[in-house]
Amino acid sequence: MLIAHISDTHISARGQKTYGIAPMAENLARCIEHINTQSLKPDLVLLSGDVTHDASHQEAVHAAEILAALECPLYLVPGNHDDRDVIWDVFGGSACPSKADGFINYVVETGALRLIGLDSCSGRSGGMICERRAAWLRGALAQGGLKPTLIFMHHPPLKCGVQETDIDGFANVEMLQGIVADYPNIERILCGHIHLLTHSRWQGTLVTTAPSMGMQLALDLNQTAASQFHLSSPAYLLHHWTADKSLISHSISVDGLIGPYDFRQY
Ligand SMILES: [Fe+2]
Ligand SMILES: [Fe+2]
Repeated sequence: MLIAHISDTHISARGQKTYGIAPMAENLARCIEHINTQSLKPDLVLLSGDVTHDASHQEAVHAAEILAALECPLYLVPGNHDDRDVIWDVFGGSACPSKADGFINYVVETGALRLIGLDSCSGRSGGMICERRAAWLRGALAQGGLKPTLIFMHHPPLKCGVQETDIDGFANVEMLQGIVADYPNIERILCGHIHLLTHSRWQGTLVTTAPSMGMQLALDLNQTAASQFHLSSPAYLLHHWTADKSLISHSISVDGLIGPYDFRQY
């Protein structure tokens, strides 16, 4: 099974660049074309939030128009740049298959893996979980038995060592810690939000954050600089669930590589 994981598309209104300089609509369209032409077709695409930039309806419709070019099913969760009601209005019943207790929480059953979309939005920049979402998640996990499971949500549940997102962390994270630690079949937690590719061990599983669709956070591990981003090539991840039941994650940059060259000739 192959899952393409895109994140932080930050789509602005038609004809506008995000922050006036980032061509996010063009980036997403190029990325979709790249996904569609993979030699092994992804079974589905996950978009881990910040679909829109200013949370407007017209931005969500614009994003949906671009995403319609995908040749495989799409599932998404909202991020802090999205409006939950707008996302549901535009993507509800398709890329957001169902709602639970007012949140965009849902389960997707596939042959090999169980996918749990979790709405981590708080109304602030940072993420959160609450009693209602925690109860829903515990129930969803309990129903799945020991089947390998991926949770995808916008906000990583740990501080990733970068000021931009650590400063407004994940509220009530102890609720999530307790649930995740109880389920060793959680193969991975897939997130976005920080606009960087990272992998962190957390509560017995691995948290992966995907790169953004062309606005990479300027890495400052001293946590001293003002928040800045680079314009970058659109990038995404391919999560490959192999015959050996391992989830192998590949980082893909949409801009072409030079080559290939044959190892035996050089
Ligand atoms: Fe973002
Ligand atoms: Fe975000």
